[in-house]
Amino acid sequence: MLILGRGKTGSLVAEVAQERRHHVRIAGAKENADGAALSSEKLSDVAAVIDFTAPHCILANIEASVKAGKNMVVGTTGWYGELNRVRSLVEAHKTGFVYAPNFSIGVNLFFDIARAASTALRHEYSGQIFERHHVHKKDAPSGTAIALQHLMRDASPKHEEVEITSFREGEVVGLHEIVLESAADRIYLCHDAKSRRGFAEGAVRAAEWLAGKKGFYEFKDVWREL
Ligand SMILES: NC(=O)c1ccc[n+]([C@@H]2O[C@H](COP(=O)([O-])OP(=O)(O)OC[C@H]3O[C@@H](n4cnc5c(N)ncnc54)[C@H](OP(=O)(O)O)[C@@H]3O)[C@@H](O)[C@H]2O)c1
Repeated sequence: MLILGRGKTGSLVAEVAQERRHHVRIAGAKENADGAALSSEKLSDVAAVIDFTAPHCILANIEASVKAGKNMVVGTTGWYGELNRVRSLVEAHKTGFVYAPNFSIGVNLFFDIARAASTALRHEYSGQIFERHHVHKKDAPSGTAIALQHLMRDASPKHEEVEITSFREGEVVGLHEIVLESAADRIYLCHDAKSRRGFAEGAVRAAEWLAGKKGFYEFKDVWREL
């Protein structure tokens, strides 16, 4: 496996992949300047590429990996405006691709809980989403908060857009809260990541699941099969 990104999450993904007995190479910004780590030659012995880099380079990384025919797992967020273009690229090159704003199993369970709780929106509750992350995070709102907003909108009777409020403070790994409020009461739902380990395990397990498959998948639709 080739892990792109030597940052907080990428380095943990490499650790988890090694623990799970994969042969692992890791490339950060230096080794991958101008896509240097993604030439066909460099990728020849790579089964899958896992990307935890940054919005400025993610589309170039996807393009190079997919064009080289490699399966890809993308944890990097901040590029979903280009989702349809990437889907077409993956389908044209017949590769396998899994992406997620959040690779933790706990958060994906939380998505199901949020979907169920959105029933409240048809009983005169209003909704709010709050997300807190460390000060180094480059995008806001978080991809996870946007995913929560979309699924609550789809589950609500009038397709209401629930507002997201973002906080950037200290070294918070990732905290997402949903508050549903009526005149009578308040419901709080909260997922608080204790470490990045959940993301790393989910991403490596997604790459294992993807082996031998083609197609464009979102992790929320496949994590139950891991
Ligand atoms: N989906 C999920 O479950 C999940 C979970 C956590 C984070 N994320 C997302 O993953 C991304 C990374 O998060 P992070 O917290 O790990 O950030 P981070 O600590 O800032 O790491 C990003 C790393 O990307 C590397 N990089 C930059 N340009 C590159 C390039 N062209 N090729 C290869 N590597 C390059 C840098 O490596 P060097 O240090 O070597 O320069 C940097 O350390 C963000 O978009 C974040 O939102 C997603």
